[in-house]
Amino acid sequence: MEYRRSLLEVRDLHVEVEGKEVIRGLDLVLHRGEKLALMGPNGSGKSSLSMALMGHPGYKIKRGAIVLDGNDITGLSPDRRAKVGLFLAMQNPVVVQGLSVTNFLRAILKAKRGEEVPIREFREMLVKAMGLLEMERSFAARYVNDGFSGGEKKKLELLQMTLLNPKVAVVDEIDSGLDVDALKIVAEGINRVASEESAFLLITHYRRILDYIRPDGVAVLMEGRIVASGGPELINQIDRQGYDWLAVKTA
Ligand SMILES: Nc1ncnc2c1ncn2[C@@H]1O[C@H](COP(=O)(O)OP(=O)(O)OP(=O)(O)O)[C@@H](O)[C@H]1O
Ligand SMILES: [Mg+2]
Repeated sequence: MEYRRSLLEVRDLHVEVEGKEVIRGLDLVLHRGEKLALMGPNGSGKSSLSMALMGHPGYKIKRGAIVLDGNDITGLSPDRRAKVGLFLAMQNPVVVQGLSVTNFLRAILKAKRGEEVPIREFREMLVKAMGLLEMERSFAARYVNDGFSGGEKKKLELLQMTLLNPKVAVVDEIDSGLDVDALKIVAEGINRVASEESAFLLITHYRRILDYIRPDGVAVLMEGRIVASGGPELINQIDRQGYDWLAVKTA
């Protein structure tokens, strides 16, 4: 088998939030070019994991390490993590009054590069990315997430991802609240952004989006630990049988 370098390695991670241990000894490896689906029931710790990966201060890493492309990023601030190539699309994105999508995207790109992106270059990138995601031009003038539909919020995240071109993208339930057409566009967007040089962690508890994005592997999170991992066939099994059979195995 071809040796693929790992882009993200999570080792024996323990995370506490509000004094409660929500990630309890988690190991995970994402290889270059890989799309890994992370599934698990409500409250199993999926979003907590993504928050801890991104460096949210409320999610305290008690033990373990997060290594991105060979660099230990466990102690880095969220903006440093973003700079080294980690991207998180959140389950519940924030509203920013008075900030246009264009200015928001230009600001995050500047933050990542550490310098202003020339306006012409930025415009070209934006038009290209919006075309890729089949978005109306007028979207760029709207205020960030203000009055956005569920689908529009997700598309804004995809737009961020497309522009930032991260090494590792963590996508938390990007399928929630999307109708079938929006789901297809979002999935196609992810498929286009994904490359042999990047890796995706796709958090979901439905198989719906995984019909459009073929993951290379599936890991199941329960009570803060990976309890099963395997190929795409695991998705069908979960679809048929739910998660309880996996809980029994770990008891
Ligand atoms: N900020 C927080 N404050 C208090 N408890 C939290 C916080 N974030 C997460 N938790 C708790 O951690 C546990 C895991 O929650 P988490 O949101 O990570 O689950 P999840 O797997 O993403 O669930 P879902 O599928 O519903 O999105 C839950 O018991 C939740 O109540
Ligand atoms: Mg969640």
